Amino acid sequence: MRESKRVFGPFALFTEAVPFIRYERVALLSVPLVLTAGAAFNREVLQDPATWRSVGLFPGGPRNSAARRLNQGLMRLTGHRHAHYRSLITPPLRRLQINELGERMLRVAQERVALWPVGEPIDLAGYADRLIQDIAIELLFGADREYGAPIAEMTSRLLGRNWGLSAAAFPINLPVTPYGQYVRDAAVLERHVLAWAERKRGCNDDRDLAAIVVNSSDVDGTATSEATIAAQIPTLLIAAFEACVSALTWALILLAQHPRIARNVLDELSKTGADGMSAEAIINLALLDATVKETLRLLPPLPLHFRVAQVDTTLAGYPVPRGTRVVLSALLTNRNPKIYQDPDVFRPERWQSINPGVSDFMVFSAGPQSCPGYWFAFSVLKIALATILTRHRLELVPPVRIDYGTRPTLRPVGRVPAVLHPQDGEFAARPIAGTVMSLVQFA
Ligand code: HEM
Repeated sequence: MRESKRVFGPFALFTEAVPFIRYERVALLSVPLVLTAGAAFNREVLQDPATWRSVGLFPGGPRNSAARRLNQGLMRLTGHRHAHYRSLITPPLRRLQINELGERMLRVAQERVALWPVGEPIDLAGYADRLIQDIAIELLFGADREYGAPIAEMTSRLLGRNWGLSAAAFPINLPVTPYGQYVRDAAVLERHVLAWAERKRGCNDDRDLAAIVVNSSDVDGTATSEATIAAQIPTLLIAAFEACVSALTWALILLAQHPRIARNVLDELSKTGADGMSAEAIINLALLDATVKETLRLLPPLPLHFRVAQVDTTLAGYPVPRGTRVVLSALLTNRNPKIYQDPDVFRPERWQSINPGVSDFMVFSAGPQSCPGYWFAFSVLKIALATILTRHRLELVPPVRIDYGTRPTLRPVGRVPAVLHPQDGEFAARPIAGTVMSLVQFA
């Protein structure tokens, strides 16, 4: 995307995805691919989900298979069905409702982080993953870790495998192919989800997203079908933690490599009373808030958003046929130098003087399918960071090499070796290498 923007500018329309293959012969390559970067394109596409439909998170599967059902979660729904399911799950995610959960969120974070080992190497990404997953299941899925955690793990593995491309690019359903394995794993996941759903039946916890789906009726008033449950629950679960894990991991890495900022954030926390602080006080800390925003800007958990034209239409004034695929680059939108000076630099202080709109700060998307979980995300990220920082100083273990992958969230590939020390304020960056250097200009 960066190269395309450098060569062609923020809008590039490729009429043949692979130029030397005649498109009439290869159906998949017969539609244009459009790469865009910038608020105007984001607005045009995201405000019109009837024309520009989201692609699913998963690659789909054979007819009547669990793999195909899995890909029909909220993000794939359109029209009345989308509005219906969205209206069901939005109330518990509203600011007021999440604020009421603040103290519980803080307590869970403190309990979990207290168990993190000090003075020995850990995989930072793995610890961030379990922390966020625990909090999300505790607060948004009825605290049912026994069932929720294995389903979260399975869904996360399936999602990561899909974006490894092997399954999506060669959809041959045989026992030995990656796609065949994917189809079988999706069936196992579905069985677990339906078993979990049975436990939720009759439970009227109006904060439990899984219970809400199971115990509500469909848009036509009929009982929610197993197919709907099998699609919605894994989608909601993965949405609730996957992107937050990406953001927390990056925030910890960025703070470890920016000692001055880490010291200032710790000062802000200490002034407010550190350990005895309330969740509300943490959520209102200005520099902590700016640190989270800056992490999300620089390394957006969902750096690319994909849409497909449902009808012949136009984009930026160009006629494009039905089936045209468009990629909106959140990563590049968030680096518009007119809004974000020195866009590749991690500089939380910039947020004192800017207030970009949703289409210029492309983190939670925009329009009718924008993220309803943004307030939960901000709250959990601030509470997790405050809890970790007040207790631990984190040091990346040299030689530090961080490569990034997009599967589909932006994550460090593999382990992130780190050591936790009791917090003493002695922050120090380590020499760093890896592809992350192409995304962040470290001091
Ligand atoms: C830092 C954390 C998060 C980020 C960056 C994020 C980002 C996004 C983005 C970009 C989309 C739109 C995707 C697309 O249309 O292509 C989205 C949708 C969604 N997100 Fe989040 N999200 C985060 C956390 C959460 C949380 C905590 C929840 C809680 C359940 C959540 C629930 C959802 C749901 C249900 C949708 C689908 C909305 C719809 O289609 O109407 N997200 N998110």
